[in-house]
Amino acid sequence: MKHDFNHKAETFDSPKNIFLANLVCQAVEKQIDLLSDKEILDFGGGTGLLTLPLAKQAKSVTLVDISEKMLEQARLKAEQQEIKNIQFLEQDLLVNPLEQQFDLIIVSRVLHHMPDLDATLAMFHHHLRENGQVLIADFVKTDTNHHGFDLAELETKLAQFSFSSIDSQILYSAEGLFLGNYAELFLTVAQKSLAD
Ligand SMILES: C[S@@+](CC[C@H](N)C(=O)[O-])C[C@H]1O[C@@H](n2cnc3c(N)ncnc32)[C@H](O)[C@@H]1O
Repeated sequence: MKHDFNHKAETFDSPKNIFLANLVCQAVEKQIDLLSDKEILDFGGGTGLLTLPLAKQAKSVTLVDISEKMLEQARLKAEQQEIKNIQFLEQDLLVNPLEQQFDLIIVSRVLHHMPDLDATLAMFHHHLRENGQVLIADFVKTDTNHHGFDLAELETKLAQFSFSSIDSQILYSAEGLFLGNYAELFLTVAQKSLAD
């Protein structure tokens, strides 16, 4: 996985990937009232297609990724645009979690790459402050796309991991969107419940 994206890093910012990231970014902006006081974790943030525009509006963004080459691209663009409130971390949070907690965790087109969904949702919960929100954008599971998620199943899983106020919407759908097939891009938002 790590090597896959190292190999893709220099060409990742394609018109399609920029378009999808912009869709997710706009949906995040619509969902979140006041970005300016938010500390955000962009999990699997890659080349920073979401990190950079969000950092311009938020208090800070921590971009975590396991691909050093994807991170290198993001760092380069942040330097060029003189954006200073981004922390870049090459780290596997399933193995080495952070001490820090965040107001928002953005997970754009990363969840289907994660080897263990339960461990990943628990890790998101661990990294969120009380009432913090996780925003997951990914593809819906279809007959042709087995890598995606069944939204009802994902929502049930989130509830099992003590998330509440769970809401999903389809952001975009098109032929050839994912692995050459018809696909639907969703956004699911869930809040870390108050301690029970
Ligand atoms: C399709 S790209 C999405 C990049 C970015 N989120 C976006 O929407 O443009 C998937 C990213 O997830 C990263 N990734 C995969 N597994 C990961 C893991 N276990 N921890 C952190 N990042 C991971 C990859 O290195 C890659 O940068």
